[in-house]
Amino acid sequence: GGDGKTVDYDFSFEGPFGTYDTMQLQRGLAIYHNICSSCHGLELVYFRNLTEQTGPDMPEDMITELASNYFIPDDGLEAQPGDERPAGLSDQFPGSALSNAPDMSLLAKARAGFHGPYGTGMSQLFRGMGGAEYIASVLTGYTGEEKEEGGTIFYENTAFPGGWIAMAPPLWGEDIEHADGAPNDLESEAQDVAAFLMWAAEPKLNQRKAFGLTAVILLSIMAGLLYFTNKKLWYDVK
Ligand code: HEM
Repeated sequence: GGDGKTVDYDFSFEGPFGTYDTMQLQRGLAIYHNICSSCHGLELVYFRNLTEQTGPDMPEDMITELASNYFIPDDGLEAQPGDERPAGLSDQFPGSALSNAPDMSLLAKARAGFHGPYGTGMSQLFRGMGGAEYIASVLTGYTGEEKEEGGTIFYENTAFPGGWIAMAPPLWGEDIEHADGAPNDLESEAQDVAAFLMWAAEPKLNQRKAFGLTAVILLSIMAGLLYFTNKKLWYDVK
């Protein structure tokens, strides 16, 4: 069985200066849309969020078109209970189509790939929480072994806790052709969709890091000024 092994993939958004890679988010969106969305929902994300500059930065007309592939409960005046309509820019993605497939809006933040504190207790400090790494590792972690239990097929997976997951391998490599000609081997696809899900869970990461940097710079200047103020104030006493 697997023992929850997370591969430490490198992502563009890691570290104090890391930001999302727009092209990677677009590839991840394409993978989510074409493959994952048939089971997993993304109900905290609005279609218009996909046009955000610090996110996938997609043109509005393309997202309007993409949204129209998703069906959500019709809230119109004439609607009967159970009626559905195609989604638009101002709607949210639907929830999971398959009841036992978790919604993915927060998955990248809800899972930790690296754990602590043990050993040096520094693992998460240096490698991060590993939510995106965990997702990519699940996608690449299938051993090919399967078993049936109580009518459900479980697939052996080295990253999934417990070692057996009730999700058939959704990616095999070359599942989709990317518009930008980027590699579509299994590992690349897994990292692209994991990056997209990280953005979905934390869309303000770029802004947060930029703000953090500004804060550190301002606080450093402030510390310097206070140091000299202190010197000056106590000049007579010393
Ligand atoms: C679970 C990702 C496609 C059905 C999971 C988990 C991840 C994941 C990371 C583990 C969640 C956790 O830690 O709780 C993906 C991605 C997909 C994809 C990125 C697209 C590339 C699919 C598809 C189906 C599916 C197409 C249905 C045919 C499930 C189910 C589970 C699951 C049922 C729960 C498994 C369990 O708890 O044992 N998925 N998935 N997934 N997925 Fe997917």
